[in-house]
Amino acid sequence: MFENIDLSNNKRPSDPRFGSGPSLVPVEFMEKLLATGQDLLGTSHRKAPIKNLVKEVQDGLSKYFSLPDDYKVVLGNGGATFLFDMIGLGMVKKKSAHFTCGEFSEKWFKAHNKVPWIEAEQISVPYGKGIDGKNIADADMVCVTLNETSTGVQISKLPEVDNDTILAVDATSGGGQIPCDLSKTDLFFFSPQKVFASEGGLFVAIMSPKAYNRALEMAAGDRYFPVIMSWKLAINNSDKNQTYNTPAIASIFFLNEQIKLMNSVGYEKACEMAEEKAQLIYSWAAEKKYLSCYVEEEKYRSRSVATINVDESFPVTPLIDWLAEKKIAYGIDGYRKLGKNQFRIALFHNIKYDDLNKLLNIISQAIEAN
Ligand SMILES: Cc1ncc(COP(=O)(O)O)c(C=O)c1O
Repeated sequence: MFENIDLSNNKRPSDPRFGSGPSLVPVEFMEKLLATGQDLLGTSHRKAPIKNLVKEVQDGLSKYFSLPDDYKVVLGNGGATFLFDMIGLGMVKKKSAHFTCGEFSEKWFKAHNKVPWIEAEQISVPYGKGIDGKNIADADMVCVTLNETSTGVQISKLPEVDNDTILAVDATSGGGQIPCDLSKTDLFFFSPQKVFASEGGLFVAIMSPKAYNRALEMAAGDRYFPVIMSWKLAINNSDKNQTYNTPAIASIFFLNEQIKLMNSVGYEKACEMAEEKAQLIYSWAAEKKYLSCYVEEEKYRSRSVATINVDESFPVTPLIDWLAEKKIAYGIDGYRKLGKNQFRIALFHNIKYDDLNKLLNIISQAIEAN
C-alpha cells in the first residue's frame, strides 16, 4: 500500500519516538547512565551521591522555572495519577473545582470526587474544546490541566484565584515547554516522562508556601490519609534531598540530564522551539485538504501534543501500523478512548523540528498516494 514511499536515510526521522508519553529518552542519557558504572544504581538514596542528584534536580528546576526562593520542589514515587489522590486527600479542605476537557483532567476530578469528606465540582467542555478555569467562590482549590494529553488542548492563561485558594496545575505533558508563570501557581506538578524525558513512576510537585503550609496544616489535623500519601513526609524528605520511599534512581538521573539540557537553552527558548514545531504541524494540517486540526480554537491548540484529524475516506490505522513497523514513528495514534480518525503527535522538547518535518512529509506522501 505504501511501498513507493521513499524511506531512504535522509528522508526518515532520526528517531521514531513521536508518542505522547513516555517520550524520547536520548540514547546519550542512557550511555551516560551506563558510564556511572557502580557509582549510582544500586546505592542508597539516603547517601550523598543520590542526595546530590536529587539536589541537582531541585536546583535545576528552580533555575529553569525561575522559582521564587520560598517555593519547594518535592519529589516522590507514584506519578501524577498518584498525586491526584494525594492532593484530594491531603490538600483540599472542603471543596475542589475541576476544569476538565479530556480524559486526564476528568480522572483528576473523579479521584477527588471519590473522597467522601470533600466536595468536587466539575466544570467541563466537550472534548476538543479548551477551558481556562476561574476562581470558584466556595472552592479552596482550583484544578486546571496545563496540557490535556488526550485531546491536545492546552490552557491559554492561568486563572486568578482568591488568596486562600490553592491553584493546582497538572503540568504533566506540557510543563517545561508551554509558557507558564509558576510564581502564579501554588501546586505545579508533573510526571517526568513527557517533556522531561525521563521514565514514569516519579512525581515532581513544585509548591508555593500557600500550598505546603496548607498540606502541613492538614497533616497536623485529624483527617485520615494513607501514610504513603503523606505530604508531610514527602515535604520533609525533599527538604533533605530525598524521597520518602525508595525511588528509581535511573529516573532521577534521566530527569537531571534533561533539566541540564533544558537549562542550557532556557525556558523561554524551549517554549519558542515548541512553538516552531506547533506552527509546522498546524500549518501542515491547514494546507492539506484531507487534514484538519482537531482543536478548532487556535489559542487552545497544544504546543506539546498535536491532534490532527484525517478525512474519513482515509482510515489512519494501517498507516500508523506501517510507520511503526518501518520504525518511522511509534505511538502516533489518537487517544484510544477518543476513537477519532486522528494522529496525535508529540512535540516534546527532544523531538527535532527536522525529524517532525520528515515525518509529516512521509505521512502526506502516503495519504496522497492512496
Ligand atoms: C495530563 C496528564 N496527567 C496525568 C497523567 C498521568 O501520569 P502518570 O501515568 O505518570 O500517572 C498523564 C499521563 O499521560 C497526563 O498526560
